Amino acid sequence: MKVLIVGSGGREHAIAASVAKSDKVDQIYCAPGNAGIGQIAECVPIGAMEFEKIADFAKEKAIDLVIVGMDDPLVGGLVDVLEKAGIRAFGPRKNAAILEGSKAFSKDLMKKYHIPTAGYEIFEEAEDALEYLHTQAKFPIVLKADGLALGKGVLICNTLQEAEDGVCAIMTERKFGSAGSRLVIEEFMTGREVSVLSFVDGKTIKIMSSAQDHKRAQDGDKGLNTGGMGTFSPSPFYTKEVDEFCQKYIYQATVDAMAAEGRPFKGVIFFGLMLTADGPRVLEYNARFGDPEAQVVLPRMKNDIIDVCEACIDGTLDQLDLQFEDNAAVCVVLASEGYPVKYEKGLPITGLEAFTDKEGYYCFHAGTKLDQDGRTMLTNGGRVLGVTAKGATLKEARANAYAATEWVDFANKYMRHDIGKAIDEA
Ligand code: AMP
Ligand code: GLY
Repeated sequence: MKVLIVGSGGREHAIAASVAKSDKVDQIYCAPGNAGIGQIAECVPIGAMEFEKIADFAKEKAIDLVIVGMDDPLVGGLVDVLEKAGIRAFGPRKNAAILEGSKAFSKDLMKKYHIPTAGYEIFEEAEDALEYLHTQAKFPIVLKADGLALGKGVLICNTLQEAEDGVCAIMTERKFGSAGSRLVIEEFMTGREVSVLSFVDGKTIKIMSSAQDHKRAQDGDKGLNTGGMGTFSPSPFYTKEVDEFCQKYIYQATVDAMAAEGRPFKGVIFFGLMLTADGPRVLEYNARFGDPEAQVVLPRMKNDIIDVCEACIDGTLDQLDLQFEDNAAVCVVLASEGYPVKYEKGLPITGLEAFTDKEGYYCFHAGTKLDQDGRTMLTNGGRVLGVTAKGATLKEARANAYAATEWVDFANKYMRHDIGKAIDEA
């Protein structure tokens, strides 16, 4: 088979590494990819939002399967364009990717189908939102821009003043662009967060092993929100009781709700859950693998990823036995000092060869490129590498991952030192 992956980050490198393990696959392409992905796939200079070019390329190369990793092209309808061109694609169509693309849609869906989530109101006008804040609101309160905002469109406001400023930033100043044309104001919840990724074929859902992200830039969950500074899998807080609750009230209920709305979902649903004192609640849905959750979940998956993708497309997921290794994995992101605000790019990276043929260790590239000579690997983003290691236990995986972060180096290398530390409390 020939497989094309769409995207350019650490998640797509993890997907490519899984695809490369399949006996069924002869050739992997990635659009646009990055320098690390380029070691196992042929990267083609086509942007993830260039739908017609992607479809033309897929036809020209007779691609058998396209796997769309990123949210923007899914929400924009890349899968629909590919299907119309007769190309098999893994990921939700536009009318289903709205589960991630519109927070107002997902909140209304959960309300209509009684899926546990925080209470909320939706506003089209800043004035109405402000009036609501003055009359009804309890603080802290959560403001969410409706659309995609690179994970930054959520503001937790401790005071009325902060919330007023937030409404202006999102709706009036359009700090997150058109994502802010509608606003969700949501009740603040407390509890531990867990990410659960799943495969869905329109009617059947199969849960992957749980994971936990670390979104803040600094140790102790301080500093600014980032795309994710590290992950571990499984989460010891995702207990049997939590799983039973979610199986009963959240997972299948979401898939059935989407089907009932005439929006059957095929692909990956990412459930962002908060384990509150009153039980698990949905914080958010994503319509794709998490980044960097994919970097700890996929290396532990026993199945051939091609079989799983095809079962999702063909609607035969009920016949597939999805299995994960009985171990753990930790991913530590190596970023450039200053991320997510301001940082240097183009710095040489050394030591990458240490990962070659090292069983249970992975160096997923997030932001790298090759120098003009085509030999020296350079940093090319805020998040540069995701160092993943497996271990028999979370503690062992954590020790292995941190040891492996020492194998690679670049100027201004920055990482959190407490990824997975929460497991000590479990
Ligand atoms: P989201 O993109 O909706 O997952 O929001 C990003 C982050 O904001 C989440 O991972 C939580 O840490 C936080 N968050 C979102 N909604 C709430 C809420 N209702 N209560 C407390 N924290 C929240
Ligand atoms: N790690 C969170 C996300 O991918 O949205």
